[in-house]
Amino acid sequence: MESSLFYLLFLLSLFHIITCEGHSCLHDQSSALLHFKHSFSITCSASDCADTYPKVESWKPNTDCCFWDGVTCDIATGQVIGLDLTCSCLNGSIHSNSSLFQLRHLQTLNLAYNNFNNSQISSEFYHLTSLTHLNVSYSGFSGQITSEISGLSKLISLDLSYNERVKISLGKLVQSLANLRELVLDGMNISSVVPDFLGNLSSLTYLSLYDCSLFGEFPTSIFQLPNLELLLVGGNLDLTGHFPEIYSSSSLWYLDLSETNFFGKLPDSIGNLKLLNHLILSDCNFSGSLPFSLWNLTQLITLDLSNNEFNGQISSSLSNLTHISYLDLASNQLTGLPSYVSQLSNLTILNLNRNSLSGAIPASLFTQPSLRKLDLSENKLTGPLDEFQSISLIPLVEIFLKGNELHGPIPRSFSKLMNLRTLDLSSNNLSGTIELDMLFMLKNLDYLDLSDNNLSLIITTVHLNSTFLKLGGLDFSSNMISQFPDFLTNQNKLKHLDLSNNKIHGQIPKWMWKVGKETMFYMNLSHNFLEGLEEPPAILPWGRGRLKFLDLHSNQLQGPLPIPPLSTAYFSISNNKLTGEIPPLICNVSSLEILDLSNNDLSGLIPQCMGDFSKAISVLNLRRNSFHGTIPSTLTNGSSLRTLDLSNNQLKGRVPRSLVNCKKLEVLNLGNNQLNDTFPIWLETLPKLQVLTLRSNKFYGTIDQRHLANYAFSKLRIIDLSYNEFMGDLPSTYFLGWSAMMMSYEKEPELRYMGGDRVLSRLGDSDE
Ligand SMILES: *[C@@H]1O[C@H](CO)[C@@H](O)[C@H](O)[C@H]1NC(C)=O
Ligand SMILES: *[C@@H]1O[C@H](CO)[C@@H](O)[C@H](O)[C@H]1NC(C)=O
Ligand SMILES: *[C@@H]1O[C@H](CO)[C@@H](O)[C@H](O)[C@H]1NC(C)=O
Ligand SMILES: *[C@@H]1O[C@H](CO)[C@@H](O)[C@H](O)[C@H]1NC(C)=O
Ligand SMILES: *[C@@H]1O[C@H](CO)[C@@H](O)[C@H](O)[C@H]1NC(C)=O
Ligand SMILES: *[C@@H]1O[C@H](CO)[C@@H](O)[C@H](O)[C@H]1NC(C)=O
Ligand SMILES: *[C@@H]1O[C@H](CO)[C@@H](O)[C@H](O)[C@H]1NC(C)=O
Ligand SMILES: *[C@@H]1O[C@H](CO)[C@@H](O)[C@H](O)[C@H]1NC(C)=O
Ligand SMILES: *[C@@H]1O[C@H](CO)[C@@H](O)[C@H](O)[C@H]1NC(C)=O
Ligand SMILES: *[C@@H]1O[C@H](CO)[C@@H](O)[C@H](O)[C@H]1NC(C)=O
Ligand SMILES: *[C@@H]1O[C@H](CO)[C@@H](O)[C@H](O)[C@H]1NC(C)=O
Ligand SMILES: *[C@@H]1O[C@H](CO)[C@@H](O)[C@H](O)[C@H]1NC(C)=O
Repeated sequence: MESSLFYLLFLLSLFHIITCEGHSCLHDQSSALLHFKHSFSITCSASDCADTYPKVESWKPNTDCCFWDGVTCDIATGQVIGLDLTCSCLNGSIHSNSSLFQLRHLQTLNLAYNNFNNSQISSEFYHLTSLTHLNVSYSGFSGQITSEISGLSKLISLDLSYNERVKISLGKLVQSLANLRELVLDGMNISSVVPDFLGNLSSLTYLSLYDCSLFGEFPTSIFQLPNLELLLVGGNLDLTGHFPEIYSSSSLWYLDLSETNFFGKLPDSIGNLKLLNHLILSDCNFSGSLPFSLWNLTQLITLDLSNNEFNGQISSSLSNLTHISYLDLASNQLTGLPSYVSQLSNLTILNLNRNSLSGAIPASLFTQPSLRKLDLSENKLTGPLDEFQSISLIPLVEIFLKGNELHGPIPRSFSKLMNLRTLDLSSNNLSGTIELDMLFMLKNLDYLDLSDNNLSLIITTVHLNSTFLKLGGLDFSSNMISQFPDFLTNQNKLKHLDLSNNKIHGQIPKWMWKVGKETMFYMNLSHNFLEGLEEPPAILPWGRGRLKFLDLHSNQLQGPLPIPPLSTAYFSISNNKLTGEIPPLICNVSSLEILDLSNNDLSGLIPQCMGDFSKAISVLNLRRNSFHGTIPSTLTNGSSLRTLDLSNNQLKGRVPRSLVNCKKLEVLNLGNNQLNDTFPIWLETLPKLQVLTLRSNKFYGTIDQRHLANYAFSKLRIIDLSYNEFMGDLPSTYFLGWSAMMMSYEKEPELRYMGGDRVLSRLGDSDE
C-alpha cells in the first residue's frame, strides 16, 4: 500500500515538472544567457580538453534554456543554478556589465579553458553569493583578486589555475574563504610564503599549488589537516620544508612535493599515511635511508623518489607494495638489487637508474607480466644476462641497462621481446657475436644501442629477411665489427647511425648511399679503417634535407673530398688521406656550422667562395694540408666564425684586413705558412680573441705600441709570434693590458671546437 502511494506521488510530481510553466527556463535568465553568448566570438583552437566544442551553439531563442548544453536549472524554481562552459571556444571579454552577473542564483560556474582575453576578474563575481564552485582554470583572466571575495561565503571549491596574470594574496584569500574544501592555484604567480593559517582550514580536502612561485618554509600543520586528501605543492623550486611526523590517521591519498627544496629524512611515521596511493617526492633534497615503514604503504600505486639523496639498501619488503604500478627511485645512492620486484604483478614502470645497485639482474625481470619500461642503467650490476623462458607475450617496450658491468653474450631469448621498441645495453662489457636473425625477430624495435661493448656481428651470407626490422636509430659504436652490416640495406627509416670506432675496413659500399636516404639525421663512421667511397655521387645523398651531422674523421679515406648533403651542419673528415683541390661545390653546403678538413693532403687554392658561403659557420679548420695561394679575402662578411685554423699549409701574402669583421673570432691560427705581413695590430678590436698564432711565417717589422688602445686584445690568453722576422722590443704595455692572460689559475683554453659543443647539443635536441 505504502509503496504504491509513494509511486503515485512520484508520478504526480513528474507530471508537475513536465507541465508546469514556472519550472522551465525563466525569461530573464534565458535572455541573460543569450546576451552572454553573443558577447563572444566562437573560435575553437587546440587545447588540452579532450572534448572541445562550442556548447553555446545549442542556445537558441524561444527554446527552454534549462535544456541548453552546459546549463542546469533548479527544478523547483527554474532559476539557472549551474553553468558549465568548459572548453567551449569562448573568445572575448567579460566586463562588469556582462549579463552573466544577472544569473544571481548560480551555484556552480565553470568557465575553464576559454579565452577571456585578459578580462579583469570583476567584483561582480563576488556578488554571485550562492556560488559553491567557481572554476576559471586556463581562461585568460587578469587583474587582482580582492578581499571582497569573502562575499562568496558559500564557496567550497575554487580553481583559478593557469591564469598567470591574475594576482592574489594567498593569505587574504584563505582568510576570506574559510570554508573552502578545494583550492587549486596551479601555475599562478603567487610569489609569497605559504601562510601558517592555511593549516587552519580544517575542511580542506584538495590543495593544489603546483608551480606558483611559492618560497620559504612550508607549514607542517598543513600535513596534519584531518580531511586533506590531495596535497600538491610541486614545482616551487624555492619552497623548503621537511617531511613532518604524521601523528594521527590521515586521509591523504595523493602527495606531491616534487621539484621543491624539501630536505631531511622521511620520518618512520610516514607509515601512518595508510591511504596513500601516490607519493611523489622527486627532485627534492631528501636524504637518509628509506624508512622501513614506507613498505607498509601497501596501497601505493605510484612511488617516485627519484633525484634525491636517499641511501642504504632497498628493502625486500618492497614486495609488499602489491598495487604498485610506477616505481621510480632513480638518481639516489641506493644499494641492493630488487629480485623481489618480480613479485609485483602490476608494475609497469621500474626506474632505478643512477644508483649503486650491484649483483646480477634476475632474468625474471624480463618476463614480468606487466612491466613496460625497465631502466637499471648506470649502476654497478654485474654478471651475464641469463636466458629466460616465456610462453606468454612479454610486454616490455623499453629496456635501459647502459653503464653497468654486465659481461657475456646477449641472450638469444631477447628475441622473444616482441614488443620491444628501445634496447640500450651500451657501455658494458658484453662480448660475443650477435646473430642478426635474433634482431630480426624484434619487429617493433626502433632504437638499438649496443655501443661501447666488445660485440661483433655475424654477417651471414644467407640472405636473411630483414625487411620487417625498421630501425630509427642504431648505435653500434666502439665495438668489434669489421664490415657494414648488410641488413642496413633495408633500413629506410633510419635517422641515427653510429658505427664509429670499430674495425671496418675497405670502401663504404655503394648500397650505403641508399640507407636512410630520406630520413638520416646523424651519421658517424669515424675511427674505422675506411679507405674510400664506392662510386660516390657528386653530393652524398643521405637524409634528403634532414642530415645535420656527418662524421668521417680518422679513417684512411683517399681520393677527392666528398661533398656532404647540402643540409649538413657538422662535417668532419679530418685525419684521412684525401688529395686534390676543394671542389667549389662545398660552398653550396650553406648550413655548415663546423667544417673540419684538417690533416689531409688537400692542395690547390682555397676557393674564394669559402669566405662567406655559410652565415652559420663557426669553425673552419683546414690545418695540415697543402693549400697554397692567399687567404680568401671574403672570409668575413657578417660572420659567425669563432675558430679559423689555416695553419700548416703554404699560404702566402697578407692577412686579409676584412678579418676585422669577424667579431666572434676566438681562435685564429695562421702558424706555419709563408705569410708576409706586418703585425696585425688591427686585430686588437676583436673582442673575443683568445688565441692568436702567427708562428713560423714571414711577419716582419716592429710591434708598434703607440696605437694600442686600452681594451686591445683583452681576452687574449695565447699569443705565439715565434719564428718570424719581427724587430725591436716586445712592448711591455701589451702584457699589462692582457688581463685574461693573468688568470693563470684558470684552465688553459683547450683547442677544442668552441662552437662545437653548442652545435652537438643542439643537434641532439632536435633528434627525436
Ligand atoms: C580570439 O579572437 C582573436 C580575434 O578576434 C584571434 O586573433 C585569437 O586567435 C582568438 N583566440 C583564440 C584562442 O582562438
Ligand atoms: C582582446 O582585447 C584587446 C585589447 O583589450 C582588444 O583589442 C581585442 O579586440 C580583444 N579581442 C577579443 C577577441 O575580444
Ligand atoms: C560593457 O562595458 C564595456 C567596457 O566598459 C563596454 O565597452 C560595453 O559597451 C558595455 N556593454 C554594454 C552592453 O553596455
Ligand atoms: C576545473 O575544470 C577543469 C576543466 O573541466 C577540470 O579539469 C578541473 O578539475 C576543474 N577543477 C576542479 C577543482 O574541479
Ligand atoms: C611574478 O610576480 C613577481 C612579483 O609580483 C614578478 O617580479 C615576477 O616577474 C613574476 N613572474 C612571472 C613569471 O610572471
Ligand atoms: C589558526 O589556529 C591556531 C591554533 O589552532 C590559532 O592560534 C590561530 O589564531 C589560527 N589562525 C587564524 C588566522 O585563524
Ligand atoms: C640539501 O640539504 C642539506 C641538508 O640536509 C643542505 O646542507 C644542502 O645545502 C641542501 N642542498 C641544496 C641544494 O639545497
Ligand atoms: C606495518 O603495519 C602493521 C599493521 O598495521 C604494524 O603492525 C607494523 O608495525 C607496521 N610496520 C612498520 C615498519 O611500521
Ligand atoms: C611485508 O609483508 C610481510 C608479510 O605480509 C610482513 O611480515 C612485513 O612486516 C611487511 N613489511 C612491512 C615493512 O610492512
Ligand atoms: C592492477 O591494475 C588493474 C588495472 O589498473 C586493476 O584493475 C587491478 O586491481 C590492479 N591490481 C592490483 C593488485 O593492484
Ligand atoms: C621478406 O619478407 C617480405 C614481407 O613478408 C617479403 O615481401 C619479401 O619477399 C621477403 N624477402 C625475402 C628475400 O625473403
Ligand atoms: C715581403 O713582402 C715585401 C713586399 O710586399 C717584400 O719586399 C719582401 O721581400 C717580402 N719578404 C719576404 C721574406 O718574402
